[in-house]
Amino acid sequence: MKFGRNMPCWCGSGRKYKACHMAFDDKIAGFERAGHVVPDRGLIKTAKDIEGIKKSAVINMAVLDEVGEKIRAGMSTQEIDDIVANTTRKMGGIPADLGYEGYPKSVCTSVNDQICHGIPSDDVILKEGDIVNVDCSTILNGYFSDSSRMFMIGEVSPEKRRLVEVTRECVKVGISKVIPWTTIGDLGHAVHQHALDNGYTVVREIGGHGCGNAFHEDPFVSYVSKPGTEMLMVPGMVFTIEPMVNMGEDKIFTDKKNGWTVYTADHKPSAQWEVEVLVTETGCEVLCW
Ligand code: MF3
Ligand code: CO
Repeated sequence: MKFGRNMPCWCGSGRKYKACHMAFDDKIAGFERAGHVVPDRGLIKTAKDIEGIKKSAVINMAVLDEVGEKIRAGMSTQEIDDIVANTTRKMGGIPADLGYEGYPKSVCTSVNDQICHGIPSDDVILKEGDIVNVDCSTILNGYFSDSSRMFMIGEVSPEKRRLVEVTRECVKVGISKVIPWTTIGDLGHAVHQHALDNGYTVVREIGGHGCGNAFHEDPFVSYVSKPGTEMLMVPGMVFTIEPMVNMGEDKIFTDKKNGWTVYTADHKPSAQWEVEVLVTETGCEVLCW
């Protein structure tokens, strides 16, 4: 809808449109005319949305802190699920994973050659030398937060440690590339390049996503994209940066038995870190990590 100049702005600020988001909308329209994919208004978070997402993120980060305190060799991944479910609910939140498209648990625990969507189980016991991604998402008052961390169990081989560290660097590179009025493709390409420079590959099929008012929103955030392509990053957008970096080849497969868990085809290890960021006027604010 085209807003009248003197109408209250769509963002809920209470100011007149012409004094609030009119110039912003015109700027986006200019990029669209120049051929860019641009976000629609629904992807621009209001001040109220951002406040809600931040409160949700406080829980998500506290849950991952709690996992970090307790995780150890000999623990089952089901015990991690219990920590996530209990801590989230104690803080008033809801684990977003539970029941999402039929997902059976409250968190994803992906060990070694599991890339993502590892399902917690009494039968999966963490052992010395494992690397495990714990991917946690919270709903609070309808607002979604999403982040994941890697944990190294006891003494981990130098090769695996380097994979975990370089993957974290990839996320830092991604954060440094959240520059308003540049594109998701600029970010994705830089992340990919850092992984390639270190001799790794990046999963092509799965990536980040808009997040906040729903679990998964536009845009899809690929880490194998080309500079200047994909959606324009605009202040007020919130999305995740969550590259999955493989020690070996980028080929993957999904476990047919559970329909969820994604593995590396060559069974070499994979790592992932995930942060949720808000695009600002000058760069970004990390809301959840
Ligand atoms: N947290 C994952 C993400 O980063 C999504 C997990 S969906 C689930 O997008 F159903 F597997 F939990
Ligand atoms: Co995510």
